[in-house]
Amino acid sequence: MRRIVLRSETDWDGWRQATRALVQARVEPGAVKWVVARAVGGEADPLPETTGTFHVPRALISLASVAIQAREPERFGLLYSLVRRIGAGEKVLEDDTDPDLSMVRRMALAVRADAHRMRTGLRYLPVTEDGGVRYLGWFEPAHFVLPANARLLARRYPDLKLSIVTPDGSAHWDGSSLLFGDGLRHAADDEALQAWWETHRDLVLDQASADVSVSEAEALDEAPRPPDRPAIGPVVLTVKPDPGLQLAGREAGSCHRCPLYQPATQTVFGEGPADAPAMFIGEQPGDQEDTIGRPFVGPAGQMMDRAMEEAGIDRRMMYVTNAVKHFKFVARGRRRIHQTPEVPEIQACGFWLDVERTHIRPRLTVAMGASAARAVLGRAVTIGRERGRPIPMADGTTAFVTVHPSYILRLPDRAAKDREYAALVADLRTVRDLIGAG
Ligand code: URA
Repeated sequence: MRRIVLRSETDWDGWRQATRALVQARVEPGAVKWVVARAVGGEADPLPETTGTFHVPRALISLASVAIQAREPERFGLLYSLVRRIGAGEKVLEDDTDPDLSMVRRMALAVRADAHRMRTGLRYLPVTEDGGVRYLGWFEPAHFVLPANARLLARRYPDLKLSIVTPDGSAHWDGSSLLFGDGLRHAADDEALQAWWETHRDLVLDQASADVSVSEAEALDEAPRPPDRPAIGPVVLTVKPDPGLQLAGREAGSCHRCPLYQPATQTVFGEGPADAPAMFIGEQPGDQEDTIGRPFVGPAGQMMDRAMEEAGIDRRMMYVTNAVKHFKFVARGRRRIHQTPEVPEIQACGFWLDVERTHIRPRLTVAMGASAARAVLGRAVTIGRERGRPIPMADGTTAFVTVHPSYILRLPDRAAKDREYAALVADLRTVRDLIGAG
């Protein structure tokens, strides 16, 4: 058995170098033991001496650079085996039924979901440092997503000092360099986080090492921020989960109020801080939301995030949910095609929307698209006629109607897409003014 020791859980360069040498030396995947130095220590066996090159498709490199961040220990061997089979001429990437490929794709999906959770869910605690402020953020990742995403957050906040602390390790950005150090096992609250910082602030900067080499371009499908789109500052608030809402979310997990629960993977409940000034409501989870279990994380969610950011709204401070909490679809072969929910389904799920509204008490309820508008206003709504202005509601709060991002995604031509996207951003600027979020 050949023992390969990687420097860290996300030692991309180490894995690539070893994989290249092992494939060329025709080493069987079962004859390789992959271990991580930090976890086990010890000597590595030397890599076989080889020369020459072989081609690995770009799609596999990009998939592997995400999947390597998964927490499953078998990922290194699985990825090695895929590269070796492709190197031997097998058309693995074209075979959607291949069990190894499916497992790697599932890992990559889970990593992406976790990265999204980190990028949208971090809250920061400001602590004073050298007369200035450092923002301390706590996050418990399901996978090893800190290194690649810390780079992204550092780039998002070029002028700030910030530290992201997780049980796996911490990342520290001072405006010019990004260092990695020890982690903290548990941070039940702000005091625990602050106490850890007090004892680690010197240590962290001594021990830190930039021992991480997942390339951010490969790890994240995220384009650099255009210079004309300023970053929204870090949200300084601790997430105080509303216990009542958490309980409701768990109960909704076994909801049978309509038949949509049967084919769906899971209930996708809303999320966001309990004191959110506005609640954003979509129609229903899509394919990716159904798999991941969180609202608006797929293509429509990405468009919503972008439009919100352009309008100066920080999604992390808003409550985001759907009129219907299960994905309604018809299966066509391997694809699941979205189906618009019927009025009785929207009405049945209105129960959960009421529960969410009672807990959040948003000043403004933003309905995106006709299904959400029906759920909020209790009647059929023509979006073009009612969009873009405050609509008083019987409970004294205000509703606001705009288009659903999926509508824009479905438009056939570029010019129409651009026009409708600009109109969505204009509506969201009105939302920002109505809630006073700048
Ligand atoms: N579309 C929605 O309406 N909601 C989601 O969560 C995703 C897509």
